[in-house]
Amino acid sequence: MTQWASKLSQSQMDALWMPYTANRQFKASPKMITGAQGNYLIDDNGRKIFDGLSGLWTCGAGHNRPEIAEAVAKQLTTLDYAPAFQYGHNLAFELADRLANMAPADINKVFFTNSGSEAADTSTKIARAYWRQQGQPTKTRIIGRAKGYHGASWGGISFGGIGANRKMWGPAMESDHLSHTLLPNNQFCKGAPNYGEELADELIEMVALHDASNIAAVIVEPMSGSAGVIVPPKAYLRRLRELCNQHDILLIFDEVITGFGRTGSLFGADAFDVVPDMINVAKQITNGAVPMGAVLAREFIYDTVINAGGADYNIELPHGYTYSGHPVACAAAMAALDILEQEKLVSRVAELSPYFEEAVHSLKGMPFVSDIRNFGFAAGFSIESYPGEPARRPYEIADAMWKKGFYVRYGGDTIQLGLPFTTEKAEIDTLINAMQDTLMGK
Ligand SMILES: Cc1ncc(COP(=O)(O)O)c(C=O)c1O
Repeated sequence: MTQWASKLSQSQMDALWMPYTANRQFKASPKMITGAQGNYLIDDNGRKIFDGLSGLWTCGAGHNRPEIAEAVAKQLTTLDYAPAFQYGHNLAFELADRLANMAPADINKVFFTNSGSEAADTSTKIARAYWRQQGQPTKTRIIGRAKGYHGASWGGISFGGIGANRKMWGPAMESDHLSHTLLPNNQFCKGAPNYGEELADELIEMVALHDASNIAAVIVEPMSGSAGVIVPPKAYLRRLRELCNQHDILLIFDEVITGFGRTGSLFGADAFDVVPDMINVAKQITNGAVPMGAVLAREFIYDTVINAGGADYNIELPHGYTYSGHPVACAAAMAALDILEQEKLVSRVAELSPYFEEAVHSLKGMPFVSDIRNFGFAAGFSIESYPGEPARRPYEIADAMWKKGFYVRYGGDTIQLGLPFTTEKAEIDTLINAMQDTLMGK
């Protein structure tokens, strides 16, 4: 009898259609997580597994934080739900104000969603609404970037740039894509690479092709996560900002991974010193404990849409979710942000990043490692593939790591690390030693 069979019936194992998962492979050899504590997951054999991706880039403050549990429990017995449309509850306004104060410059209007995908849809809908209310309704096209990930909604798979996520469905929204910035010249570069700033100039060609009168926004992750941690070339984002300004195109940063500390700054916008027009966040906002996302927008965007709303009983932006600003999610976010601030986790990431950088780059020269990239507490390894089987070797590496007691992410031809912000140096050492042994076939 297989291990899981003692706990789950065959029909239970069969019933779940797992997301972004090789269902047949998983069900043949399930990796079941039954608990978590701090920087560790616990599997169904009671093994402690170091969480090398902070869940899914979600749990930077470590798992099962009692402060979040208490806030959620209290909220559930105070106000479990409040209708999100036409009525309000204090916590949503308080959290919005807190986020507005954290975000750079005049990014001070907050629209709540439940996920990063919904934030991608919301920010691009807001971009279109903004231009329409500016009297330019033809500005609808969204420009993404190759290898970009913005979630699984129709918007996300249209302006997202990971081929495997797109080919099944075809595009839904008018979009186009800048080139990715993964350049051979930058291989094994530590931190932000030197080459590739000029790739931002492709936006000029997009404007020539589509005309700025038809382009609403550019959306990029300041640092791509899901495609294997692609750090922006120095000055690339600044150039993109300049070009968006020149051509009246809104710039959206998808900070679903980089928001709230991953880069060693509060936002990627701070780390790379560029102010976009909107910032999408999710994941770390509640430390992964309760689903939540948000779009943080600059004041002029809100003002334009709201002021064009007509009679004051009109809904200015006919958009939102039943669970936008859910009280329990707000309570979790408040507690998660308290932890981030009280434990100074963002500066902790900044302080330990050089140590992590040295550690990951010590794997240069190991078998199959064709590139290593890092920034903050994120790192990506490109892995040479078996001929015609790009996804296989990363899976095998992650599988071997799991058996050794380490969870790392595999995707495409990459292995990704996203350490909990609470990681100790000794944990970095054991993780990297295990990676080395694994790559050497030990
Ligand atoms: C940059 C980015 N945007 C959007 C998303 C989608 O978020 P969700 O899975 O919460 O919809 C992700 C998820 O990994 C992401 O990394």
